[in-house]
Amino acid sequence: MKLVHLSDLHFPVALPFMTLKGKMIPGYMNYTFRRMRKYPIFLWDAIVRKVESINPDIIVISGDITNVSHRTEYEESKKILAPVLGDKTFMIPGNHDRYTSIAAGTKGLDLPYYEKFFSPWMGESIPLQKDYLRIKKIGKLALVGWDSNMPLSVLNAYGYVGEEIVHSTLEYLEKEKLDQYILICHHPIWNPPERQESSGHKMKNREEIAELLKKRPPLAYLHGHVHTNWVKYPDPEKPYYVINSASSTRISDKRHQSGFHLMEWNETQINIKRFTFSNEEGEFTETQTISYQEKETNGR
Ligand SMILES: [Fe+2]
Ligand SMILES: [Fe+2]
Repeated sequence: MKLVHLSDLHFPVALPFMTLKGKMIPGYMNYTFRRMRKYPIFLWDAIVRKVESINPDIIVISGDITNVSHRTEYEESKKILAPVLGDKTFMIPGNHDRYTSIAAGTKGLDLPYYEKFFSPWMGESIPLQKDYLRIKKIGKLALVGWDSNMPLSVLNAYGYVGEEIVHSTLEYLEKEKLDQYILICHHPIWNPPERQESSGHKMKNREEIAELLKKRPPLAYLHGHVHTNWVKYPDPEKPYYVINSASSTRISDKRHQSGFHLMEWNETQINIKRFTFSNEEGEFTETQTISYQEKETNGR
């Protein structure tokens, strides 16, 4: 079973300034001046070529497709994503996809934009009173999607997952006799010691969530949000791989080791490969993973 994990695609979509409202204005300005040129579309075209040659069984996209959740960004992103949208695709939203209350569906009765545009690839919704829990089964594997995002002030980007979501997830897996699962959530559950997040950026209750997961740990926790790649090996506190593929479509620099991961799983073993864009070849090529073994994983 081959799983490709992409994250934080932040597609470069130009927006008419007059159509921006509220926090979209500073958000879009920040994006235009600081980020847009770091996200040339040819990187995405190269990812599509690489994914087609890998021919994976599963493609996971762990959020932040847009920048300010503008409807035009959603329309354009759906066209850009078309080559990878199919039966094997599983996607969840990131904080940039829930940037405003309109996009997040917290105002009025309309569906959130992410659901409106991408429902066919978001898995089956498990009925909870109101919360987000989505599951897709591919072969012997269950993919579990959580939504750690909510609209916040322009200065914040933190995440939160209700403990009842963890209980419902574990109950569902038990009831359906799904032994092996991969958890996908936008915010990290672990950071390398040198890449800690501020309280305005991290998942606020992640240690409580990690504690509950010990009861039935996933094979791997796939996320994005911090724009540099890493892989944490299983350890006693978090006995699963933690894989960060953000930001797959960004040009790499010293602080941003961009790329994506390929997980190969043969029911007993997981092998992880990393791909980054090679300027010389104009393609994504395999490179070393940035990995952290047990002795180095004491960062929280
Ligand atoms: Fe992001
Ligand atoms: Fe994010």
